[in-house]
Amino acid sequence: MQKRERDWWKRAVIYQVYPRSFCDSNGDGIGDIPGIIRKLDYLKSLGVDAIWLSPFYCSPQADNGYDISDYRDVDPIFGTMADLEELIAEADRRGIGIVPDLVLNHTSDEHEWFKKAKSSRTDPCHDYYIWRDGKEGVLPDNKRAAFGGPAWEWVPEVQQYYYHHFAVKQPDLNWQNPEVREMLYDMIRFWVEKGVAGFRLDVVDSFGKEIDRDIFQNGPMLHPYIREMRQKAFIRDDLLTVGEAWSVNLESARLYGNPDGSELSMAFSFEHLMLDVAEGNDRWHPIPLRFRNLKKTMAKWQNGLVGCGWNTLFWENHDVPRIVSRFGDDGRYRAESAKMLAAVLFGMQGTLYIYQGQELGMTNVAYPIEEYRDVSTLNFYEEAGREGWPEEKRMAAIHAQSRDNARSPMQWDDSPQAGFTSGKPWMRVNPNYREINAAAQTGDPESVFSAYKELIRLRKEYPVITEGTFELLLPEHDAVFAYRRTLGSRAVGNRMGTSGEGGMGIGSGTGEEILVVANFYGETIPDPLAEEEKGMEVLFRNYADEGTKGVLRPYEAVWYCSR
Ligand code: GLC
Ligand code: CA
Repeated sequence: MQKRERDWWKRAVIYQVYPRSFCDSNGDGIGDIPGIIRKLDYLKSLGVDAIWLSPFYCSPQADNGYDISDYRDVDPIFGTMADLEELIAEADRRGIGIVPDLVLNHTSDEHEWFKKAKSSRTDPCHDYYIWRDGKEGVLPDNKRAAFGGPAWEWVPEVQQYYYHHFAVKQPDLNWQNPEVREMLYDMIRFWVEKGVAGFRLDVVDSFGKEIDRDIFQNGPMLHPYIREMRQKAFIRDDLLTVGEAWSVNLESARLYGNPDGSELSMAFSFEHLMLDVAEGNDRWHPIPLRFRNLKKTMAKWQNGLVGCGWNTLFWENHDVPRIVSRFGDDGRYRAESAKMLAAVLFGMQGTLYIYQGQELGMTNVAYPIEEYRDVSTLNFYEEAGREGWPEEKRMAAIHAQSRDNARSPMQWDDSPQAGFTSGKPWMRVNPNYREINAAAQTGDPESVFSAYKELIRLRKEYPVITEGTFELLLPEHDAVFAYRRTLGSRAVGNRMGTSGEGGMGIGSGTGEEILVVANFYGETIPDPLAEEEKGMEVLFRNYADEGTKGVLRPYEAVWYCSR
């Protein structure tokens, strides 16, 4: 197995695979582990260091695997344990780590633990879950589940309700029970011993919930639990551990990502992806992007964790829409805007995460409701219907925000079903696969894929990107996203007003500076930074030619470097 440095993940590029939609090897219409193995060389060519692997465990698939019925085995639809071991070994041969998803907030209602728990109040597993007495038909209170409907479900056998933050088939584990935690830690060690490179922790911020006090995230016991888990379960020092934390702020990010290694490597903050939906992160009420807030939010996180935490950089995952459809233009300027969005993000400090298909500029889908599969989308459709939302408004919200936007099958080539499967895909392939697919892009130097590859290469070549300071430029400009990264004596000079020696880790006196300038919109505009750019070298541009000096074309983005 690869020997990794303790903080290898700081320079790493992580690629998220959603197994069900990635590559189907046996024609049953569902992506699988042998399919992932086939595509390892593709990922290697992109420059990927590790794969975040969404759940492949045994599961009734009520939430596409985020409802686990056996943490220690592979679901037959995805393959076998032998396939998984082969994936770990084959990835390792290419220098790629496997980072499985860990879903510890809840299990499936078909997990052995829950089957026992619901059989009798005296079963030792009963207290593994969260129960309230009550009467059938009279809910304990009016708590709502994140996927719609009440958070309580009645179990006649025990004459009690269990709590589920997500779908009915995802009962929440009782983290206050030390035995539950020990069982989970033991399971995590099982996977560490299999040679994984780390873990992504699903909804980590809810582990310390105290529902009677209406505390659903960031409970008082959250960080003590994570520290306990770090000690007992994350038994290797080089594991990448990243928590999904919709509620994280700078203060808690400094705990999750404490550089002393007492908790996790880092946490996903979603603040930048809440700026085009209504207050309260209500995804079903999309609003136009608050662009200046986006810049300020990114800058706040860039500057807020220096030396006391670590950032995650991402535009997409399996729960959010495609970024090119969301913040870019998935029509006329699809390729330009997809590359621009990459150029803006990839120059920042943090660990970079790319979601499958993002590197091709894959777009949202817009299907009739029958084609949607996601439990939260379907629940929303029903519920909003009952609340009287007109059909058109419901479908507009779904087209903009459904999680299935990210879950349509990966577009490999222009053969039927985009080369994803030889059978009937579990979800319809986006009809634009004939133009947007990997085969068409890997050999084309002007493709979105090639831009991703080049930006990844530059990220690794320039230490300033991992280590330099960040300065947002033109915060009030309403179309340009620009910032400067500085390393070495230049950084010291900038910060202290002197030209001292040394600085951020490279002993040389010259330093290094990268300037990122991007037009975030589709109009041609004057380049407000033309003066600054003089004398700098172009490292990357998302247009083939130089264009006119002093002007930024639609979605034009450039990386400049000090000479
Ligand atoms: C996380 C996952 C999401 C899942 C939910 C419940 O948010 O990313 O896909 O539905 O947790 O496990
Ligand atoms: Ca399959």
